[in-house]
Amino acid sequence: MAFPLRPRDIFEELRKDVVGQDDAIREIAVAMVKHLVGHPAPNMLLIGNSGSGKTTLMRAVERFLASRPGLSDYANIVRINANVLAEERQGYQKAVLGRLFSNARRMFGADAPLRRVLRSVEHGIVFIDEVDKIRAHVSNAPNVRGIVAQEALLTLMENENVEFEADGQTYAVNSSSILFIAGGAFEELYEAVLRRATIGHDVTPMKPMVVVSASGEVREELPFHLRDYLKYEDLFRYGMTPQFLSRFESIVVLNDLGEEELARIFVEPDGAIFRTSREYFATYGIELNITRGALIAIAWDAARQKRLGARALRETYRRVVRGMEFEPADGGTITIDEEMVRRAIARRDQGHG
Ligand SMILES: Nc1ncnc2c1ncn2[C@@H]1O[C@H](COP(=O)(O)OP(=O)(O)OP(=O)(O)O)[C@@H](O)[C@H]1O
Ligand SMILES: [Mg+2]
Repeated sequence: MAFPLRPRDIFEELRKDVVGQDDAIREIAVAMVKHLVGHPAPNMLLIGNSGSGKTTLMRAVERFLASRPGLSDYANIVRINANVLAEERQGYQKAVLGRLFSNARRMFGADAPLRRVLRSVEHGIVFIDEVDKIRAHVSNAPNVRGIVAQEALLTLMENENVEFEADGQTYAVNSSSILFIAGGAFEELYEAVLRRATIGHDVTPMKPMVVVSASGEVREELPFHLRDYLKYEDLFRYGMTPQFLSRFESIVVLNDLGEEELARIFVEPDGAIFRTSREYFATYGIELNITRGALIAIAWDAARQKRLGARALRETYRRVVRGMEFEPADGGTITIDEEMVRRAIARRDQGHG
């Protein structure tokens, strides 16, 4: 029988939650399908600036798999913060495999045969978020927690016989089929590679490009995309050990979000900032609207706050609505227009909070 799920199905679903990262979504969708049908799937490392959607993408995958009852047998998934993992005293095995184990017990019921439960652990999907926090060195000094964490994960990633404890018992599994997807912002990596790309000897120097934004503003930008210049050595230098890194067959660099994407993130996904805000005002019988100009102004302001990604949207928007949120009128309509947004931005730029 043909497998009922195609990468494109997953792609289309994930795109509803994750904006502007189609390449990454495509790769993840293919890896998912391969993994679910039992083909070897590449472990993935997602690299992307803060607020570009790494955690959102991981959550979207979790949500998607949970929403398909037919897949639950295959879709045993956990998401763990690498930092938290480094604190784990009882060991990584227990933290990761123990959680997959209890997931399986919960999915199949307490009476499920042990073989079935262990098989589900062996085909688990493990998201490791903030993996950049377990660097092997920080500003030239060794970082013992990071080294230990990378080594422990390494042992966990490809091992025919990993023991772990759950429900007071010890079990052993073959972890070589578990799919690992790690993500991190790798903050200084961006600067380091940019430096190499602008003043390095191995590349032609970049020329600034003139960019005109949707709000009509003109500025110069370097056409720098991390993915065009990133090399394995950059990641070693950052503090990911070669052994650890070599376990990730696929390295995906997420896009930096531009105005257009930020505007969509503000209104489109379930739980988008504007949708949530509409719901808040609706509880007072108020219909909240926004003009196209206001939307562009918010996205423009967020886009110029480099390195915050979509997180900047919330900050900008809060300045626009906080007065109205505190004292909402009784019913009626509020339309956020460009002028309101411009005033809120100007107040901040002049240092008036
Ligand atoms: N590509 C995107 N599509 C939809 N929403 C996004 C996207 N990127 C960011 N967001 C929104 O911005 C917020 C922060 O995004 P997210 O947590 O995914 O960032 P991150 O890449 O994990 O950043 P960090 O490295 O700081 O953890 C989320 O609440 C999400 O709603
Ligand atoms: Mg994150």
